[in-house]
Amino acid sequence: MLKDRYKDYFDIGCAVNEESLAKHADFIHHHYNSITLENEMKLEKVMPEEGIYNFDFPDKVVEYVKKHSMRLRGHTLVWHNQYPDWLFKEGNRLVSKETLQLRMKDYFKVIMHHFGNSIYAWDVVNEVIEDKTGKLLRDSPWLEVLGDNFVYDSFVLAHETQPNAQLFYNDYNETDPIKREKIYQLVKGLKEKGAPIHGIGMHGHWNLYGPSIDDIRRAIELYASLDVRLQVTELDMSVYAFDDQRKDLTQMNEKLATLQAERYEQIFEVFREYKDVIDAVTFWAVADDYTWLDDFPVFGRQNWPTLFDEKAQPKESYHRIMNF
Ligand code: GLA
Repeated sequence: MLKDRYKDYFDIGCAVNEESLAKHADFIHHHYNSITLENEMKLEKVMPEEGIYNFDFPDKVVEYVKKHSMRLRGHTLVWHNQYPDWLFKEGNRLVSKETLQLRMKDYFKVIMHHFGNSIYAWDVVNEVIEDKTGKLLRDSPWLEVLGDNFVYDSFVLAHETQPNAQLFYNDYNETDPIKREKIYQLVKGLKEKGAPIHGIGMHGHWNLYGPSIDDIRRAIELYASLDVRLQVTELDMSVYAFDDQRKDLTQMNEKLATLQAERYEQIFEVFREYKDVIDAVTFWAVADDYTWLDDFPVFGRQNWPTLFDEKAQPKESYHRIMNF
């Protein structure tokens, strides 16, 4: 079992949704000791209308997690995607700063108090860094309405609302030399201003060809130098390079399986080396039978990014990270 093999290193998590949890209920707690909800804690799901909250599935997960002595991560409070329409609207206009601040206060309270200590860590802010050079924060309604300080303010509000929770900044392309420097600068600035930020979540949406082990290592060292905890929050290993648009592969082949196993082996070697700063490694799926990568970046193209095949049987990748 993964979680036992890694008990002296870090938690091993997976992202679940209603279907995957129902299908793999026993398998999940057998291998994993941490859970993130793939979509069901995002704002569009928990607060579809103003003042209307929906915690049906998250509550089932809380029970499941308690029953199996697992840990639960909260994902995510401030993001430029998957938010409900009403959030940034006031009548027909863009919401005012004052109203948005009140709405944030309100939903942080409702959501964080609903889960209380059942959730030990929150991805407070997700993906605010701009990928293109020359700009730190991406354009979004958050930035437009609240101005540069919204990241700092989000952490302060999260901490006031739920002082026990570990608070994370979470982002992708986190190993890219230019973007990792920006993430570093953002978090450094937050810490210098005294923001209650405790960790950086490295998404880890990687593939067979990149990022390099060297870039992964440098990112870990750079972030750890800020004296924050690290988690790999959304790990998967696509079998396609990011700009590969091909659709002709209909099943995983041996060559790719071997490459993937080598990559997993190498990256877990690095993770283990940094076990003093890494607290959890979460896969962004349970097994290869379902992954968001089946529809991204090419819609309807199957992918095989996890340690377990479509029947949830261990792949070569699994064995490589278990045998060390
Ligand atoms: C980002 C988000 C996740 C999820 C993935 C795709 O990484 O942080 O919540 O939406 O994209 O599944």
